[in-house]
Amino acid sequence: MTPTITKEYRLPEYTGIQALRLHEAELVALRGNDVLMKVHAVSLQYRDLMVATGKYTPGVKDNVLPCSDAAGEIVEVGSDVQGWKKGDRVCANFSVDHIAGDMTESIRQSALGGPIDGVLTQYKVLPAHCLVSIPGHLSYEEASTLPCAALTAYNALHGPVPMKAGDYILVLGTGGVSIFALQLATASGAVVIATSSSDEKLDKAKQLGAKHVINYKKTPEWDQEVLKITNGRGVDHIIEVGGPGTLPKSLKAVKYAGWIHTIGFLSSEPSEGANLAMECLSKACFIRGILIGSRHQFEDMNRLIIAARLRPVIDKVFSFDQAREAYEYLESQKHIGKVVIKVVN
Ligand SMILES: NC(=O)c1ccc[n+]([C@@H]2O[C@H](COP(=O)([O-])OP(=O)(O)OC[C@H]3O[C@@H](n4cnc5c(N)ncnc54)[C@H](OP(=O)(O)O)[C@@H]3O)[C@@H](O)[C@H]2O)c1
Repeated sequence: MTPTITKEYRLPEYTGIQALRLHEAELVALRGNDVLMKVHAVSLQYRDLMVATGKYTPGVKDNVLPCSDAAGEIVEVGSDVQGWKKGDRVCANFSVDHIAGDMTESIRQSALGGPIDGVLTQYKVLPAHCLVSIPGHLSYEEASTLPCAALTAYNALHGPVPMKAGDYILVLGTGGVSIFALQLATASGAVVIATSSSDEKLDKAKQLGAKHVINYKKTPEWDQEVLKITNGRGVDHIIEVGGPGTLPKSLKAVKYAGWIHTIGFLSSEPSEGANLAMECLSKACFIRGILIGSRHQFEDMNRLIIAARLRPVIDKVFSFDQAREAYEYLESQKHIGKVVIKVVN
């Protein structure tokens, strides 16, 4: 029997993690091009904390069903759906209407867990055009980490000038996006420099393939250290998750005509006195904003994940009932890689 009821979380107000409410709801009817996904696992993003605390500036619908990233199994297929069947293991793309090409304002409004309802639920109706097959060697928990963090890292490193073997890639911190960038870059023969606030996390980054590591607390002038490591040349690509507080140093650490992929805003304090326009000009470098990626890029990324047998780094798995604890753990920044909620026991 097709389920008609789901347990789901909602955020009736945006006052913090404690506002998360679990309740039962009726599922919306399946239209011709929809599938019903039994959600097995959901992974958390820094964005989910911003949404819960009312700090997510691109906008959130009222009483949102939060979270963007899930992996699950198709349990019902609409009458017009082609190419998918019951039992298929799938993820949904972050912006369900981002199939290929550039972001547009209307595609941006199709982002799960923000402008539209998300995936922290037992069952989810999704349009078939957003679906991507899960690589066979990955569990549902592992696959749930791919739609946002992994695809963002992939989009950065495979942009207009893709990284190549031998390139230097600088990843800031050891959160979800940065650890995926480390793994994708290492699998592609690039040389990774990783930074972190923690020596313990840097040890783990080395085990994952980072050739050089810098503790940015002990070495606040990490940009100078990057220049030393690269014999003054600078790095080819930077995974810039810090934002205003780290961008001036990234501009020092990048090579002439290198790429800075601006992704996050973890360090919101702007550095004083930095003239970013002049710094960018004097490095003749590229600063590229990233907004996750398309379904086609997701499919390309999965081919690399399958070829290199990559496995996402999961720090901790929480049960569905422990969603608040999972959010709190992510907020503590004790994790390395990803925090996951297992929806099916
Ligand atoms: N534009 C996009 O498409 C896109 C997509 C995904 C994420 N994002 C954004 O990217 C950022 C990272 O997301 P995430 O999901 O990877 O976050 P996350 O998993 O929560 O990562 C948090 C980690 O970032 C590191 N960090 C914090 N402050 C830092 C600083 N000043 N310098 C360097 N590292 C710092 C810390 O690592 P250590 O403990 O190792 O220092 C921390 O544990 C967020 O701002 C998020 O909103 C944007």
